[in-house]
Amino acid sequence: MATNRTLTMIKPNAVKNGHTGAILEKITASGFRIVALKMTQLTSSDAKKFYDVHVDKPFYKDLCDFMISGPIVAAILEKENAVEDFRTLIGSTDPEEAAEGTLRKIFAESKSKNAVHGSDSDDNARIEAGFHFSRREQF
Ligand code: CMP
Repeated sequence: MATNRTLTMIKPNAVKNGHTGAILEKITASGFRIVALKMTQLTSSDAKKFYDVHVDKPFYKDLCDFMISGPIVAAILEKENAVEDFRTLIGSTDPEEAAEGTLRKIFAESKSKNAVHGSDSDDNARIEAGFHFSRREQF
């Protein structure tokens, strides 16, 4: 995959609260093109694998439990400088520290229920995109 792509997940709290449409609207209005999209629910082993990088963190179990608590919406987004620009759009992990107008400032409930995931590097974007989407689901 080209390095101008990133992977996002709209997390269970945001989906449950009916924010999927509003979040996707803000994403496309910010210049990102949706090149893959699905609603799905992670299994426990999916969540453990996806967040394996955080396995030693104290919040790992709660994070995995939360991420399987309901459906999510996963998408691959394309834009020049996608990873960095999307992390700017979503804002800080903790919504209390997130800048005004960012997705987490608007939609997050807490540091753990922070509404939206964004890949943190081009390498992870490729890995995470492949985690959620087969080649024929990516356009
Ligand atoms: P995300 O960017 O999806 O990837 C890792 C997630 O771990 C992060 O969003 C938060 O939801 C969660 N996280 C990171 N730091 C903390 C923390 N200190 N306490 C609870 N959850 C955290």
